[in-house]
Amino acid sequence: MNTATVDVSRYRSPLVNSYVDRADLHQVLPLETDEHVVAVRKAVREHAIDMKLSLVDQTKLVTAASELARNTIKYGGGGVVVLERLRDGLRKGLRLVFADTGPGIEDIELALRDGYTSGGGLGLGLGGTKRLVDEFNIDSRPGEGAAVAIIKWKI
Ligand SMILES: Nc1ncnc2c1ncn2[C@@H]1O[C@H](COP(=O)(O)OP(=O)(O)OP(=O)(O)O)[C@@H](O)[C@H]1O
Ligand SMILES: [Mg+2]
Repeated sequence: MNTATVDVSRYRSPLVNSYVDRADLHQVLPLETDEHVVAVRKAVREHAIDMKLSLVDQTKLVTAASELARNTIKYGGGGVVVLERLRDGLRKGLRLVFADTGPGIEDIELALRDGYTSGGGLGLGLGGTKRLVDEFNIDSRPGEGAAVAIIKWKI
């Protein structure tokens, strides 16, 4: 597992910290540029393969991660993703939290609606992502940032 340490101090905020500091066994990657999105896709693919997810599930997870990574950059002004391997009895999982220090998501229900976009996109990212994973949660603090958490389980 690639656990390269990156300086994410510029994205520190109470919201981001609550995710970055929570666990000791996780990986934190920056999200600022297209290269970072590529690196996140690669890291997620590697975890998915290691978890023995099917090729279809690998692709679903990488697609979900890509959408959220792009939102973090485009709407959150950059941020981090926290990657955390989970174990729950016989289940193995991967949790990804995309946390930024942007404006937050004012109306979560609206943001999740297919076709809603404030940035000239297709407005399919959040709703599509929710359908691609097992657990999906948005933690938004107006004016402070947004954290979108997803989990994919392998039974
Ligand atoms: N991290 C974020 N911070 C603030 N607002 C966000 C964030 N992520 C999403 N949003 C809001 O939710 C809306 C819907 O996001 P979604 O990813 O579904 O669509 P999109 O990014 O606009 O288009 P697409 O992803 O289809 O190209 C965005 O247009 C934006 O207003
Ligand atoms: Mg999007």
